Amino acid sequence: MKVLMVCLGNICRSPLAEGILKSKVDANQVYVDSAGTGGYHIGNAPDPRSIKVAKEHGLDVSSQVCRKFSVSDFDAFDLIYAMDKSNYSNIINLARNKEDADKVKLLLNEINTFDQEVPDPYHDADEGFENVYQMIDQACDVIAARLEK
Ligand code: 4NP
Repeated sequence: MKVLMVCLGNICRSPLAEGILKSKVDANQVYVDSAGTGGYHIGNAPDPRSIKVAKEHGLDVSSQVCRKFSVSDFDAFDLIYAMDKSNYSNIINLARNKEDADKVKLLLNEINTFDQEVPDPYHDADEGFENVYQMIDQACDVIAARLEK
C-alpha cells in the first residue's frame, strides 16, 4: 500500500502527515510520501516550525525534501490525502479518470463526517503547528489501524 500526503507548500502540513503516518505503520507494508500542489519550495526541508513540533512529539522530519505533486503520483500511489479543500480541488483537477479521482480523500474525513480541513498554519505561531499536529495525528491513527489489518 502506498499513501501520499498532499498540502500546498509541502513544507508545513504534509511533511508532518508523512512523518506521523510513517511512525504508526510498518515500512515494509506501507510506503508513505508527501508532496505539494504548489512549487514554491521545491528542494527545501520542512518549515522549522514543523520540524520543531515533530521533534516535541519524538519524530524527526528534518531530512524530508519538498517536491511538487505530479500526475504520475496517481499511478504510484493507492491513497492520496489532501489536507484542505483547496488541495483536494487542485489534485482532482489533475485526475485523468475516475480511478485517479477515487484515490483522493480529505484527510480529516477519516475522523469526521463533515468536511473539516487541516488549516494552513504558514502564517501562524507555534500553537498553530501543535493544533495541526493533533488533527493529523488523530486521522493517522485511524488510517494506520485500517492499513495494518
Ligand atoms: P503547507 O503550508 O501547505 O502546509 O506546506 C504552506 C507553506 C508555504 C506556503 C503556503 C502554505 N506558501 O505560500 O509559500
